[in-house]
Amino acid sequence: MKKVLIALVMTALITSAGVVFASGQEEVVDDNSVEVLHWWTSGGEAAALGVLKDNLEAEGIEWIDSPVAGGGGTEAMTVLRSRATAGNPPAAVQMLGYDITDWAELGVLADVDDIAEAENWDDVIPEALQKFSKYEGSWIAAPVNVHSTNWVWANLHILDELGLDIPETWDEYIAAMEAADDAGYIGLAHGGQAWQDATVWEAVLVSVGGPEFYEAAIINQEPDALRSPQMLEVFQRMGQLREFLDPNFSGRDWNLASAMVIEGDALFQMMGDWAKGEFFNAGLEAGEDFMGFRTPGTQGTVLFNADQFVMFEVAPELQNAQTLLASAIMDPAFQVAFNTVKGSVPARTDVSDAEFTIIGKNAMAELAAANENGTLFGSMAHGHGARASVKNAMWDVITAHFNGQMTAEEAAEQFVVAVEQAQ
Ligand code: BGC
Repeated sequence: MKKVLIALVMTALITSAGVVFASGQEEVVDDNSVEVLHWWTSGGEAAALGVLKDNLEAEGIEWIDSPVAGGGGTEAMTVLRSRATAGNPPAAVQMLGYDITDWAELGVLADVDDIAEAENWDDVIPEALQKFSKYEGSWIAAPVNVHSTNWVWANLHILDELGLDIPETWDEYIAAMEAADDAGYIGLAHGGQAWQDATVWEAVLVSVGGPEFYEAAIINQEPDALRSPQMLEVFQRMGQLREFLDPNFSGRDWNLASAMVIEGDALFQMMGDWAKGEFFNAGLEAGEDFMGFRTPGTQGTVLFNADQFVMFEVAPELQNAQTLLASAIMDPAFQVAFNTVKGSVPARTDVSDAEFTIIGKNAMAELAAANENGTLFGSMAHGHGARASVKNAMWDVITAHFNGQMTAEEAAEQFVVAVEQAQ
């Protein structure tokens, strides 16, 4: 799809757009800069992004940074929509799952097939990611990582002080938060934003009904699963969790909730493994100061999301830098350097886990096992479980319930109606 302009220059005239015209032929003068829109603005995220920026700058590419704060990317997607509507999209945009497909359907993306073919991306990126990185057979995005969402982050010093082990069952989990609460700590650090509520909720759903229930209710949106008593139990468990939040949770950013665990104010946070990047960035050690473990009752299931850089159609002079960005993202050494800082695991399947901490090694092994066992599913909260319209409908009910605007019974009923209307 990308237009390749052939150089046949006799006499040259450089226009303001940086394109050289000659005898009706055109030559592209590369503008070696690439604008990247992203939402990696927390300490850990910015540190990981720095690895990518430095790599590109070493290749002579100028990085034009367009950060839009807001975990999960909701705000970044709003900015993108207005940029694209104005006909001025950035060259590359961080994006999740079905959002990529939605943009591809609008016909505004560029493909990076040439570099993908030259570097054999088909062979090293798992199918579950290719589903989003490709559209109608063409590569339109470069996947940088795989995160997963069904994690709990614990302050090990508090856990020790309470004389507790890492909880493995839901009851042990609740009991640990009760003990923290009794000892004057906050049981669960949380930021009350719709995407964070949904991140907790989807893990709770797996803890109630297992991977089969997640597949039926979220991925396939089967009416029987949506109407089942298990769905009511999911909302009831969310009500249980709410008891362990501090009164100021509403609107709090996710990294500030991580900071509560880091600073020893709170015992747990339920958050995707980007939280690990915050712990590392604060100088804490995995297994010593903090630990990440699967949400009790979800062991063996991996709810994943992958950050991908989606390439937009840009002027010819910007295409070379765009290709170099795609290639830099897919570089195996970069994927290790980046993901060890970010808290995620590489998108490529052919890199070693040697540089990763014990949590990262486990995450890589679990991802491979879940893929093998059919217990790997896209995270709904992070755009990989359902199309955006359905996801937004789910979020509305989840967040209204978690904020006390409806009972668990009302939420379970509303959830079915909302999903049906959005389909
Ligand atoms: C992204 C992560 C990011 C997190 C919080 C998720 O949707 O996949 O890369 O760190 O949001 O901003």
